[in-house]
Amino acid sequence: MSVGTTERTRIAVLVSGSGSNLQALIDASLDPDFGAEIAVVIADRPHVSALDRAAAQDIDHVVVAWSDFFDRAAFTAAICDVARRYEVAGLVLAGFMRILARGAIEQYPDAIINVHPALLPAFPGADAVGRALAHGVTVTGVTVHFVDEQVDHGPIILQEAVAVRSGDTVAVLHGRIQKIEHRVFPRVVDAFGKGLLRVEGRRVEWTS
Ligand code: GRF
Repeated sequence: MSVGTTERTRIAVLVSGSGSNLQALIDASLDPDFGAEIAVVIADRPHVSALDRAAAQDIDHVVVAWSDFFDRAAFTAAICDVARRYEVAGLVLAGFMRILARGAIEQYPDAIINVHPALLPAFPGADAVGRALAHGVTVTGVTVHFVDEQVDHGPIILQEAVAVRSGDTVAVLHGRIQKIEHRVFPRVVDAFGKGLLRVEGRRVEWTS
C-alpha cells in the first residue's frame, strides 16, 4: 500500500540517509489535500533509516546500490527503471547523496526536485553547512530547486534564510536548517504535485 490516493501525482523519493525530509513528506502526504503520492522510496544503499521510515508507513521501498554499478549512467538508468515501473511523474531528492546522470533529466524534465542546506548559488555540493560556517557567513539557509545537469544548479523554486548564531556548530546550525526544510520541502512537493510550478528559464513561477 502507498500513502495517498491514486488521483495524486505519483513521485519517487530518493534517499541516502536518515530520511527526516522523507518523514516530513510522509507526514504531509497523510493530508488528503496533499498534491503528491509517494509511490516508492529509492535508496542508494541498504540499511539506512530512511528505508525504515518507508517500511513503517507501508510504502514500497527499493535499494539501487551505488556500489553495484560501474558508472553513473548505469546507476541512473537503474533508478529510472524503478521510477518508470512505479509510473511516477517526478523524482524528489530528499538527502540523496548521488549525482544523477543526464538520462534522468531527459526522462524527467523540470520534474526532479532537490533540497539543499544553503542559499544557492553559495556552497553547492557536499558539506554545505560546514563550509558556510567556516566561511563566516552570517546568513545561510535552505534552497529547494529543480535539478539540471550541473550540481545544485537548476532553477530555484523556493529559498528561506537562516541566521547563523555565535557559537553555532555544524550540527546545531544544520538542525535549525532542517527545521525549515521540513516545512518548505513538503510545500514545494505539494505545489509540484498540483501542477502549480512553471519553469521559465532560470525562474520558477508559482501559479494558483
Ligand atoms: C538535508 O539537510 C538536505 O538538505 C541535504 O541532506 C540532508 C538530508 O537529511 N541534501 P535527511 O536524510 O532528510 O534527514
